Amino acid sequence: MRYRLAGPGCGIPAYSERPREHCRGQSLATLGVMSLRLSVIGTGYLGATHAACMAELGYEVIGVDIDPAKVELLNSGQVPFYEPGLDEVLARNIKAGRLRFTTSFEEAGNGADVHFICVGTPQQAGAHAADMRQVFGSVEALIPFLSPGDLVVGKSTVPVGTAETIEGILKASAPSGVEVAWNPEFLREGFAVEDTLHPDRLVIGVRSERSEELLRAVYAPITAEGVPFVVTDFATAELVKVAANSFLATKISFINAMAEVCEAAGADVTQLATAIGYDTRIGSRFLAAGLGFGGGCLPKDIRAFMARAGELGAEEALTFLREVDQINLRRRAHTVDLARALVGGNLRGKRVCVWGAAFKPNSDDVRDSPSLDVAVAISNAGADVVVHDPKGLTNAERVYPNLTYEQDVLKAAADADLIVLGTEWDEYRELDPAVLASTVKGRTIIDGRNALDPAAWRSAGWTYRALGRPNA
Ligand code: UDX
Repeated sequence: MRYRLAGPGCGIPAYSERPREHCRGQSLATLGVMSLRLSVIGTGYLGATHAACMAELGYEVIGVDIDPAKVELLNSGQVPFYEPGLDEVLARNIKAGRLRFTTSFEEAGNGADVHFICVGTPQQAGAHAADMRQVFGSVEALIPFLSPGDLVVGKSTVPVGTAETIEGILKASAPSGVEVAWNPEFLREGFAVEDTLHPDRLVIGVRSERSEELLRAVYAPITAEGVPFVVTDFATAELVKVAANSFLATKISFINAMAEVCEAAGADVTQLATAIGYDTRIGSRFLAAGLGFGGGCLPKDIRAFMARAGELGAEEALTFLREVDQINLRRRAHTVDLARALVGGNLRGKRVCVWGAAFKPNSDDVRDSPSLDVAVAISNAGADVVVHDPKGLTNAERVYPNLTYEQDVLKAAADADLIVLGTEWDEYRELDPAVLASTVKGRTIIDGRNALDPAAWRSAGWTYRALGRPNA
């Protein structure tokens, strides 16, 4: 390795307090700390963000991806997906010469000392467990090019026990002194840059003081801001991530279970959420009732966690997550039932406009999108479905080429018998229900995210229905 370690904290001014030009223009070496070169394997939502943000902190970074088209795009300063603010950070650091992308693991091995594994761990086809081929594949691909003392840092969300398995692989095949550490990532899509540069906490699972020191040094510009830094063992670090996501999924399903009860009792889940959220032990975040959680993380993470707990003989501990998953999926089915009821009991031949294809606003990610799932189910029931989304249509069309897509929100709603809001983009909140009323065939809307003002829509003559709220 070619770096010199300084003590934790290292006397660097807080990242956010440093003058921007100073922190952008100088490497940490110039700041008198150390010269570290990083590689980031995998350039999806996590990897591309991590690579760009590490370069933003001043490091020399090489991003690696097996997809040459993606690498070319990234090298030209463009982000292959929608993530607010990332394009600027990426372009700035490429221009400054601190960041580049390649398909070559050899370049990453030769050009870096710390290697972050940021590849995907999707749900296995036909099973709940995680598909770990990308993680093990990238470690295997990197091994021939590692130097003694390099550190391999896993950031992907993995089944507990993965770091230990990788440690065994490295001991058997990598140069001496190559270690592994686990450093789970908690970023949210849509806020990825902010969450990476200013996280709530940093967690590392390490086997040696040397690995700890090294990661403390890497993150010194961030911890200098007072960000908590939790140092633990491999298994705990791996579990922190799935435990956090399970808690968040449970919180969402809890409020959606309350929505089901509110529907039966004629109560209002949004007021209930506000009231319980004032209790600081509960907190108001992640209590937005609606179509539930989707995306590339929460749904597959809770399933993979259940599968792994089963393998460990701890299946019973997580049976509640099965219910969390089911409550979540029930909201989608309920929305389709509600749509059917609102158009007179049969969706066949009805025109339904679905607002939202991305799994959440400020993202173009359509993986396990609740809104798109509802659109497909309504289409399968015989309706003529038109989907609108400000950013997610290209990805949606790739997955479901048979749906109709429209980029203009008003055109999408033209002649609709029913509108279903499935993703709470601001654009939908800003629409004037009176203007929309003249475009549609039937003034009926399902607000699947409790995002609109019921009074405004009702007073413009709409039948407004929301999940977990009284009908009128
Ligand atoms: C999540 C975790 O928040 C993040 O820490 C982890 O690193 C990755 O998984 P992300 O998938 O980007 O991040 O989205 P998030 O903002 O957590 O939303 C997840 C889903 O829950 C979305 O479908 C969202 O619409 C839904 N959600 C969120 C609700 O239905 N209600 C809420 O109150 C909050």
